[in-house]
Amino acid sequence: MKLPFKIPLSGKTAVVTGGGGVLCSEFCRALAACGATVAVLGHRIESIQRVADAINADNEVIAAGGSAFPVVANVLDKSSLEAAKTEIDAKTGGCEILINGAGGNNPRGTTSAEYLTRDDLDPASAAVRSVKTFFDLDAEGIGAVFNLNYLGTLLPTQVFARDMAERVSPVIINISSMNAFRPLTKIPAYSGAKAAVSNLTQWLAVHFAPVGIRVNAIAPGFFVTEQNRALLLDENGGYTARSKKILAHTPMNRFGEPSELIGTLLWLCDNSSSGFVNGTVIPVDGGFSAYSGV
Ligand SMILES: NC(=O)c1ccc[n+]([C@@H]2O[C@H](COP(=O)([O-])OP(=O)(O)OC[C@H]3O[C@@H](n4cnc5c(N)ncnc54)[C@H](O)[C@@H]3O)[C@@H](O)[C@H]2O)c1
Repeated sequence: MKLPFKIPLSGKTAVVTGGGGVLCSEFCRALAACGATVAVLGHRIESIQRVADAINADNEVIAAGGSAFPVVANVLDKSSLEAAKTEIDAKTGGCEILINGAGGNNPRGTTSAEYLTRDDLDPASAAVRSVKTFFDLDAEGIGAVFNLNYLGTLLPTQVFARDMAERVSPVIINISSMNAFRPLTKIPAYSGAKAAVSNLTQWLAVHFAPVGIRVNAIAPGFFVTEQNRALLLDENGGYTARSKKILAHTPMNRFGEPSELIGTLLWLCDNSSSGFVNGTVIPVDGGFSAYSGV
């Protein structure tokens, strides 16, 4: 990966939750290529091990003196996060940069259509057409999406931030989304949960300001990843109706590349360039959130 620029992270430790995923694995690599020791935290050992191995074999990372190691933990289980912290503290000087990247949607929090029609209100007709309306969403599925995104940001922050107050220029970066600004159709749970992540980002920035921990969020626009591939691309790799709609509302008329998030990530991590930036949610979206559609 070619970094847009470098920041001095030699001797620093970064913890990246969801580090085995598409976007956060890029974050891990970029931080290590700036010299950081990166704890790639996730609940599946195969993916976080693969990411850590690739980072440790990367020449740019080796040249910068960075490295990575996998840490298995569930962001929804505080005791597993505490065990992860003990492991990370034993291997490093302790977390200075926390990236709360674990998150995502779940089909159980998703309606099948954008709009409710009168036909949908007739259970027999809706069943024949296998429509899942707002009224069919189950509380457990919605709860799972809220928990992963909101609690999955709050609990790692509880576990890691306490000691971060003792470090030099500590930073927390949460991952929000376009749907936090305005909800996207079909995904009410994910939209509400990411709005809550943006809100928590502001709350934490205020609460932690006296102890010097800056808290910001990145709101990525649309990037084709494993989670949304089926929504955005058909089986032949062509655009679905939904992705055509997204692109029509993205003034730059394309999806983002994960590497295009790195400049914002590094800028937010670097106290000498963003030391007075606190409590913000930065869109990286090709103009999607700025465009009214007209
Ligand atoms: N892909 C996009 O276009 C997009 C857009 C906006 C926001 N986001 C957000 O960016 C972040 C990363 O997204 P991605 O597309 O790379 O997703 P991804 O599915 O590739 O990565 C998410 C990672 O989180 C891990 N994870 C899930 N549940 C966990 C748990 N309970 N404990 C620990 N780890 C857990 C998964 O194993 C996975 O490695 C998410 O918060 C997502 O909501 C993505």
